[in-house]
Amino acid sequence: MTDALLEFRTLGMFEQRAHAVIPPDALAYAVGGSATEATLERNRRALQHLAIEQRVLMGVQSIDTSTSFLGISLPSPIIVCPMGGMYRFHPEGDVEMARGATRDGGMTTVAGGANGLDKIAAAASGPLIFQLYWLGDRAWVTNRLQQVADAGDRFKAFCLTVDAAAYSRRERDIVLNLSPRRATPLPDTQSLLTWDDVDWVRTQLPLPFGLKGIMTAADATIALDHGVDFIWVSNHGGRQLDDGRASIDALAEIADVVGGRIPIVVDSGFRRGTDAIKALALGATLVAFGRTALWGLAVGGADGVQKVLRLLLDDIVINMKLAGQRSTRALTPATIRRIDASGFALPRVQSAALDTDHSVLSALT
Ligand SMILES: Cc1cc2nc3c(=O)[nH]c(=O)nc-3n(C[C@H](O)[C@H](O)[C@H](O)COP(=O)(O)O)c2cc1C
Repeated sequence: MTDALLEFRTLGMFEQRAHAVIPPDALAYAVGGSATEATLERNRRALQHLAIEQRVLMGVQSIDTSTSFLGISLPSPIIVCPMGGMYRFHPEGDVEMARGATRDGGMTTVAGGANGLDKIAAAASGPLIFQLYWLGDRAWVTNRLQQVADAGDRFKAFCLTVDAAAYSRRERDIVLNLSPRRATPLPDTQSLLTWDDVDWVRTQLPLPFGLKGIMTAADATIALDHGVDFIWVSNHGGRQLDDGRASIDALAEIADVVGGRIPIVVDSGFRRGTDAIKALALGATLVAFGRTALWGLAVGGADGVQKVLRLLLDDIVINMKLAGQRSTRALTPATIRRIDASGFALPRVQSAALDTDHSVLSALT
């Protein structure tokens, strides 16, 4: 990591500098949500309405943040989300993102629109998940997945993003007259997709397969029936369905139906280690950060991404200690309390059963 980044000592400092150096059109693209931005805002509000219980005297000198995802051992439960258009934030955007995000042994993702998959794979020093957008016919998809296979064995899993049946109205982009809908219209193939396509696509690459953009217990149940290997709870960082639910809100009911059978990744609105603690307690295996990592990329390329991820992990470790928790894998819903609008914790139901209660939802009531 270069000395130049020593001056960036907090996540807020990265965000502030990124906002100053990113050109206005790219910044609008990054920070914006769809239409009224109700989903974007709700992601944060729902997280703020969860609080972490402060347990003490638990012998917390050493904190275990390791985890396992699809049989892959990882030092940390945090990864970076797939994000398109990274060239707008760094000339070597996708490559630098993968380099920085995996430098400490972590896993990361590669966005469906990324070019030069072999270069990205060569820059990565940890496992990668490929994110697919379905932007053509089946032959187009086969061809795209062949490029993943050709890029070598860094790619350990792939997922299809399913929350993009339409390209949303990103009004910040529209105001600037920069909506990708106008510039280069995306093919409308994603609105055609059904569960039959899921059955087909998961057989097209001999890697574990997941769906990104699951937001209801109903869809999680169908996904399980279709044999997916992981579920990615996401509302695209508030960038697709307007006025949808917060992803942390959907996580609890999805964790209930999944019941630990397959791993769950979650993203959308996570900004701090404490946010990750809440998601892990509510049943996530991995927590993915989008814009927060992007600020690191814009400020310092791979070094910036690595530093942001370290700051997030530090935040997890410090707050695990202060919450009297020793292992991120062992967090349970009992770690979390739901808070009313005035900031007071709501009474627990079934408090005696909390430590053993398997129902995430009832523990949160
Ligand atoms: C600039 C940007 C580009 C994105 N591009 C993609 C993409 O190509 N594919 C995808 O599945 N999600 C994409 N997303 C959504 C992210 O994968 C993720 O769901 C979201 O950023 C998480 O929310 P957060 O930014 O609040 O952490 C993008 C998000 C941003 C901010």
